[in-house]
Amino acid sequence: MKNRLHKWRLLSLFAMIALILSGCGKPFLSTLTPAGEVAQTQFDLMVLSTAIMVLVILVVTVMFIYVIFRFRRKKGDENKIPKQVEGSHKLEIIWTVIPILLLIVLTVPTVSYTFALADVSPMEKKDKDGKTKDALVINVRANLYWWEFEYPDEGVITSQDLVVPTDQRVYFNLKASDVKHSFWIPAVGGKMDTNTDGENQFFLEFDGESAEKVKNQFYGKCAELCGPSHALMDFKVETKSPEEFDQWISDMKSAKAPKAEDGLAKQGEEVFNKSCIGCHAITPNDSRPEQARRAPNLSNFGERSKIAGVMDHSEEDLKNWLEDPEKYKPGNKMTGTYGDLSSEQLDALTAYLMDLKVENK
Ligand code: CUA
Repeated sequence: MKNRLHKWRLLSLFAMIALILSGCGKPFLSTLTPAGEVAQTQFDLMVLSTAIMVLVILVVTVMFIYVIFRFRRKKGDENKIPKQVEGSHKLEIIWTVIPILLLIVLTVPTVSYTFALADVSPMEKKDKDGKTKDALVINVRANLYWWEFEYPDEGVITSQDLVVPTDQRVYFNLKASDVKHSFWIPAVGGKMDTNTDGENQFFLEFDGESAEKVKNQFYGKCAELCGPSHALMDFKVETKSPEEFDQWISDMKSAKAPKAEDGLAKQGEEVFNKSCIGCHAITPNDSRPEQARRAPNLSNFGERSKIAGVMDHSEEDLKNWLEDPEKYKPGNKMTGTYGDLSSEQLDALTAYLMDLKVENK
């Protein structure tokens, strides 16, 4: 009796957990609210395979229950042996052919979509200047624990917030500079590893209508255990209409090195130039080689939606971060590299950083 009670408790605990977890899906972060061609295809495949599995489970369960009742031992019939069907050709053909058919239904779309979603041939077509002709290409470089996004044909680099146009395929070159990470925007498509040797390529499409529903912002994650702050290695995806995107690119391309004007920001600029500029660039058309780009590009820092990918974009949180990065993102490379800042320096640096803008200058 006690044992049984224990089992029920365990079962209800799991049921509770399942119920709570089922509330976890956020539209900007859920594979179950697909927001683009790739995510929709993958979602359809998921539904198809789940439907087939549920169908098989249902049929088997119904047959099982039927057999239990139909052939149970009845009073007066204790010695009756039901008709034996061993070796029946008809039955054996049925239960061999049905699974084959189900597998074909599952295989044909899975294989064809796998190849279709891996088609990155538009990336190969280059014009005579070596630029990709018909496709938007973004180089993604994953680092402990931040992301760099480079638009090679435009000569633009940004970090942490990925900016993409809606309703067109965007092609990605993926790699990592230190350890293996994985690039994942759950609502827009499956993940792909970023490796230290060799590049992975795929494309995603960001649906304009779905993007509007989530205020043009999706969330991205690192999906490969990469160190103590793996769970904090987030990025944001800002979607823009194609026209807005072109405008953004042109703003980024023409951005000049910022010059602080007012007193506090001016002081902050001095601190920045002494302690930070060795790793962080402040122009989006950064021409240094990638080994020299050791920390996120901050050219549009004042326009980002998060600080360090996970903290609120507020002066208060920026100061918290600058004061003790280790506390908020253990093992990150900024920790201990620039010395202690006085509270005056913190205020000044914060004023300077929050002023770094490209779009709304
Ligand atoms: Cu990078 Cu996990």
